[in-house]
Amino acid sequence: MSDVAGRIALVTGGASGIGRALATALAANGAQVLIADRDPRVTEVAEGVAVETGGRIEGLALDVTNEREVEGTMGEVVRRFGRLEILANVAGIYRRRPLLEMSPADWDETIGVNLRGVFLCTRYAAPFMVEQRFGRIVNIASGLAVRGQPRTAHYAASKGGVMAFTTAVARELEADNVTINCIAPGFTDTPATRAAHTEQELAAAIARTGRPLGQPEEIAGTFLFLVGEAARTITGSTLWMRQPGT
Ligand code: NAI
Repeated sequence: MSDVAGRIALVTGGASGIGRALATALAANGAQVLIADRDPRVTEVAEGVAVETGGRIEGLALDVTNEREVEGTMGEVVRRFGRLEILANVAGIYRRRPLLEMSPADWDETIGVNLRGVFLCTRYAAPFMVEQRFGRIVNIASGLAVRGQPRTAHYAASKGGVMAFTTAVARELEADNVTINCIAPGFTDTPATRAAHTEQELAAAIARTGRPLGQPEEIAGTFLFLVGEAARTITGSTLWMRQPGT
């Protein structure tokens, strides 16, 4: 049995792409999983994963930018299951926009979901983790935080912010046996990637790197490592997945 068996885990953004793959890995390894997503299909997706894995998984409606909803969701999970041990902050948006066309509203939207959402979910899950003296938080950053790519200033800033946030919070919670780390995926084949890039752009990326886009499932092993026993002393780190060549 995996060491996540029996753990209570919440995955934001779990209705699609990378979040769905991480939720599936947790459920397949015996965790009780809640996927929290603003997509109205969240319950349907959870049912699909339950059938696929034979695991315990439910969908919850949540907008990670809404403080009241986030606080309520974390409290509800602990009321129902007695604890909250694993939090995967995966919910995110990827809207490409040239700087010269970027409005403050564009900026706020991306920072709001990708950075403020991570803050809010961590802020309201952490008290339970500190109290139970056990917690594993994994945030999904991005290679774009450091690689530099046109039309992604707001996105890059949000993900760089997530990495800096992670490092600071790690120092604050390490004495309470709560770890917090980032995974920085490279270009991964998800609905968000397909929506933001043309087929030609994807083909060019594949030609440039000489290999196919990453698959969401490839991130699951790294994620299970970070939330498992072997990584109990790792905190404040960013683990880099394969990045596209430059
Ligand atoms: P996706 O669009 O397939 O999945 C994102 C999920 O987040 C969706 O189910 C969406 O409904 C949910 N979501 C968005 N805003 C939300 C909100 N306010 N509240 C709750 N749920 C919300 O995207 P993908 O590609 O799976 O991305 C997942 C994470 O991985 C994101 O944080 C993204 O920035 C990050 N990432 C993705 C990469 C890629 O190449 N696909 C590369 C590096 C990082």
